[in-house]
Amino acid sequence: MEKIKIVNTASYVPAKTVSNNELSQIMDTSDEWISARTGIKKRHISVGENTSDLCLKVAKKLLEQSTWSAGSLDLIIVATMSPDSYTPATAAIVQGKIGANSAVCFDVSAACSGFVYGFDIVTQFLTNQKSMRAMLIGGEVLSKVIDWTDRKTAVLFGDGAGGVLLENNQAEDSALLASVLKTYGDSHEKLTAGQTRPLVEFPPLERTQLHPFDMDGQAVYKFATHAVPETIDEACQKAGIDVSDVDLFVLHQANARIVRSIAKRMKQPLAKFPINIDEYGNTSAGSEPILLDELVRNKQVERGQIVVLSGFGGGLTVGTQVIKF
Ligand code: ACO
Repeated sequence: MEKIKIVNTASYVPAKTVSNNELSQIMDTSDEWISARTGIKKRHISVGENTSDLCLKVAKKLLEQSTWSAGSLDLIIVATMSPDSYTPATAAIVQGKIGANSAVCFDVSAACSGFVYGFDIVTQFLTNQKSMRAMLIGGEVLSKVIDWTDRKTAVLFGDGAGGVLLENNQAEDSALLASVLKTYGDSHEKLTAGQTRPLVEFPPLERTQLHPFDMDGQAVYKFATHAVPETIDEACQKAGIDVSDVDLFVLHQANARIVRSIAKRMKQPLAKFPINIDEYGNTSAGSEPILLDELVRNKQVERGQIVVLSGFGGGLTVGTQVIKF
């Protein structure tokens, strides 16, 4: 057991919101369909802010709300599937703008599992170098990747970012009790976004283009409702606790029906599974840190509680951490 501590949390979403009814003005959909199938009522959409801008807002809040200076950070990881560019990494842009000159920075690409994958990676750094100070942010501007003519995917996603500061604090009770990550690459075609294509001839006649979201929604739904409970069970066993000992399950917010189905499958009260997808839609790597920040602010998560973080998504990927908050 490593004494990993979430020092604090922060989040940021763009000001503009788009309701289901507004979407129904630009595509053949309805509030009724979206609400019933997903639980989403609206989403925040970035106009003019890129992924690094959202992450920068989170980074500044995290530092302002702590005693840490930018210069004291040793590691910044951004989990994202919608980076500003192939290179530089979003984390490097954030580092440059806050002046965290001593921090090693890179991005993690694990779609909606990005935050939990990042959490595991940070933990391994902090286990090897106990005095390190780390910042982990999950952030997305998915609106720039979406095909706004495809109602099957366009209605599901939103923009936003959230993050945490992490340290290995031997003096306190907070701890990472267990972590389980899994990847199912044989299903990589079930969820794709931003696919590139090789040239078909040289010299090229067309500019290369990125391809927007493509998803086998039902396959991902089935995957999530099975793989998430399995990894939570495995992580709880590893942590030496019973699933019923968990105070709160902070799950990736892809679909309220998925969350309810997971609660039912695990025979746990729905009250332990907070849902905020009505406000944000699916913000991929941003979803768990945004939800966690809301819970901390509302005092629904307090020190000493057992919290499960679990994400799933493209890859296909899934990951769970059991934390003593
Ligand atoms: N508005 C109105 N009708 C629609 C819409 C829409 N926005 N989208 C699809 N439909 C129609 C379809 O065309 C279809 O019509 P048809 O029967 O005439 O062909 C009908 O609704 C049913 O479509 P399905 O795709 O079967 O709907 P389903 O009940 O499976 O719900 C959904 C779709 C919400 C996407 C669901 O499958 C789901 O949530 N899947 C999981 C997605 C997910 O969790 N992704 C997370 C990972 S994301 C990441 O990693 C980035």
